[in-house]
Amino acid sequence: MERLRLGVNIDHVATVRQARGGTHPSPLRAAVVAAKAGADGITAHLREDRRHITDRDIEQLRLEIALPLNLEMAATQEMKSIALRHIPHACCIVPENRQERTTEGGIDAMGQQARLAPIVRELVDAGIRVSIFVEPDKQQLDASRAIGAPVVELHTGAYSEARGDEQKRLLEKVRYAARYGASIGLEIHAGHGLTYENVAPIAAIPEIRELNIGHYLIGEAIFVGLEASIRKMRQLMDGARS
Ligand code: PXP
Repeated sequence: MERLRLGVNIDHVATVRQARGGTHPSPLRAAVVAAKAGADGITAHLREDRRHITDRDIEQLRLEIALPLNLEMAATQEMKSIALRHIPHACCIVPENRQERTTEGGIDAMGQQARLAPIVRELVDAGIRVSIFVEPDKQQLDASRAIGAPVVELHTGAYSEARGDEQKRLLEKVRYAARYGASIGLEIHAGHGLTYENVAPIAAIPEIRELNIGHYLIGEAIFVGLEASIRKMRQLMDGARS
């Protein structure tokens, strides 16, 4: 099976920095450590309210890090302009609600097809690999393809929060969506809420090519250091794959 890529989301390094408004800890430094620890890409979400990652972070990550940058963004004209200015390797289109604590669900690609399609087209035309963050749902996958995105990221939040039989049922949903999405030509990524405990069944899904993981890795880094926390996730992913 193909090696599963790991995108390390460094938003919460910036969250800690913003708590004091200074320059420490630096997301750029975290990206350097992530590269050393085996990350295949760096993911950062530039939110409308700039609560963690800032415009300057995106500029620095784009210029100073060799790893591909995946810019998570809402589908707004402002974010599109920023993406077109920096041309990151990838953009992941996420829903955004100012009051939410994190990205609480996938975007409604089906309901917002008309609004999303022109933005996705411009980003794709600029050479950016565009993904749409959706719930593992067939209709959302069909809509993402119709919109013209080459990639979808399946939201694993519900799976991650569930337990027991409900978690098994939600894992099946992710499995089915990955298989279906790949069958209609989409590249499949997944992420949200993944931890050492729940990553293996997701990593074992053969159609999934990339996982984006942030909060847990940064939290674990408090206890074991960022390099060690990422290395362990990498090992768990590789183990599940082999
Ligand atoms: N993928 C997307 C599209 C996200 O919005 C997030 C959270 O910012 C993640 C992955 C990572 O989720 P977590 O921080 O829970 O690992």
